[in-house]
Amino acid sequence: MDKLVIKGGKRLAGDVTVSGSKNASLPIFISTILAPGIHEIHNVPFLRDINTTIKVMETLGAKIEGNGNVVKLDTTHIDNHEATYDLVKTMRASVLVLGPLLARLGKARVSLPGGCAIGARPINLHLKGLEAMGAEIHLTHGYVEARARRLRGARINFDISTVGGTEHLMMAAATAKGETVLENAAREPEIVEVAEVLAEMGAKIEGAGTDTIRITGVSELRPVVHTVMPDRIEAGTFMIASAITGGDVKIRNMRLEHLDALIFKLQDAGVEISNKDNVVRVKGPRKIKSINIKTRPYPGFPTDMQAQMMALMTVADGTSVISENIFENRFMHVSELLRFGADIIIEGNSATVKGVKKLSGAPVMATDLRASASLILAGLAADNTTEVSRIYHLDRGYESIEKKLAGLGADITRVKE
Ligand code: EPU
Repeated sequence: MDKLVIKGGKRLAGDVTVSGSKNASLPIFISTILAPGIHEIHNVPFLRDINTTIKVMETLGAKIEGNGNVVKLDTTHIDNHEATYDLVKTMRASVLVLGPLLARLGKARVSLPGGCAIGARPINLHLKGLEAMGAEIHLTHGYVEARARRLRGARINFDISTVGGTEHLMMAAATAKGETVLENAAREPEIVEVAEVLAEMGAKIEGAGTDTIRITGVSELRPVVHTVMPDRIEAGTFMIASAITGGDVKIRNMRLEHLDALIFKLQDAGVEISNKDNVVRVKGPRKIKSINIKTRPYPGFPTDMQAQMMALMTVADGTSVISENIFENRFMHVSELLRFGADIIIEGNSATVKGVKKLSGAPVMATDLRASASLILAGLAADNTTEVSRIYHLDRGYESIEKKLAGLGADITRVKE
């Protein structure tokens, strides 16, 4: 297993380019099930989760070819309706194949994903929506077994804003009979992106990016050539890397408008952010100011940036309160940040972070994807050496992060444990 060794204290400077979005690529790949033929997806990040999605698609019958960051998916023949536990437990987004398989084959058998390090993450709202669209669903032996001759349009009101649930039902509704209305839909940029891809395939979708999405089912969809949007969480992570090291970093291929909530908070913390010709420059102040954060569905502060922001607050001037409102167990990084000498107390879903003068490098262990990123950020700011182990989490979602950080002047290397 690999680990990262970081010698902290280097001020980051230079240019870095953001890769394609992981959380957009996964549903985009899965949406190709709906449109038989050869799809070509560009700007796909090299990640473990992408490989898992490719495996899922291959077991369903798709033929996949990759060349650099371009992936061709041939979904002419989708002849298997089952996604097994082995695949779904590796990456829970695999459950999104359920709706598209139902739409294409009239049946699907997909493993329930089970719990996750950051929370229980049930898929009850996905299933309730598919049932409202006429699917017959049974849970047996840990699997969801679903059948529907043809899904039909329905009015669905989500109890909670769910990104995956919204993407899933949007895909299922694209070829359903009649109109589907998704109310209290999630508004994340990845949902807009999936809606755009479906529209390029010929789907009729209005309102993606608002809380009401209307989909008028069409009888068939056609293959697409599409370029994936930049990864907003990777971009945000580089912004904090610059901020925490008092750096001066220029970030290319990011969409500033996707990160408003983070940008306002970073500016409150004293970070200078400017945009010229689509290159975003982030300058860290000598001393970070403390700020409070509450995670919320988009356009609120993203839960996927909470751990990284907490790393920044560990060295801020003053005390900040960080509340996690999306996942019930997304503070796994706290006990690792304490190993750097951070001062953090958790009470319920809030963490009170008292800034310390300096973090001190330590051996730490990654527990999930974004937690891993927060430990790297802490390591960049800390004295001496930090070793982050179990970085397979990181490889799920950040493309060559150590190479990109090294390019900015960080002293960071990957070594075999
Ligand atoms: N929820 C339910 N029932 C459902 C669906 C969701 O109770 O049927 C709850 C979840 O347990 C959670 C909340 O609703 O408490 C929001 O979950 P959501 O469905 O929005 O999350 P997701 O679709 O499973 C995606 C991202 C996550 C990101 C969340 C929130 C992908 C592949 N994953 O997950 O990304 O944190 O939205 O923005 O898009 C990451 O990239 O590190 C990551 C975890």
